[in-house]
Amino acid sequence: MTISIEVTDREGQTKTIQAAEGISLMEAIRDAGFDELLALCGGCCSCATCHVQVHPGFEDRLPPVSGDEDDLLDSSDFRIATSRLSCQIALTPQLDGLAVTIAPED
Ligand code: FES
Repeated sequence: MTISIEVTDREGQTKTIQAAEGISLMEAIRDAGFDELLALCGGCCSCATCHVQVHPGFEDRLPPVSGDEDDLLDSSDFRIATSRLSCQIALTPQLDGLAVTIAPED
């Protein structure tokens, strides 16, 4: 199944992208050409440059935040209640319609 995701960039431009089930949200955003999502560690949960702020309404459909993810998010000045590392979110059909904003660069 194809998952539809609404991505807002740092300029406030919103684009709807389509991604394959099973890849990470980080991969989906990067593959859609959003260069500002650096994802420097390639998805190993060790850089926090894949930080996104999830729009309200999807929290309970997301996988839980791991201890490592929580620590890395804490290093960001732009963490909000719904912040996540996008490499830690595998796309599932329940996430169809997910909306996120790429967090400002720390
Ligand atoms: S890509 Fe490095 S923590 Fe997600």
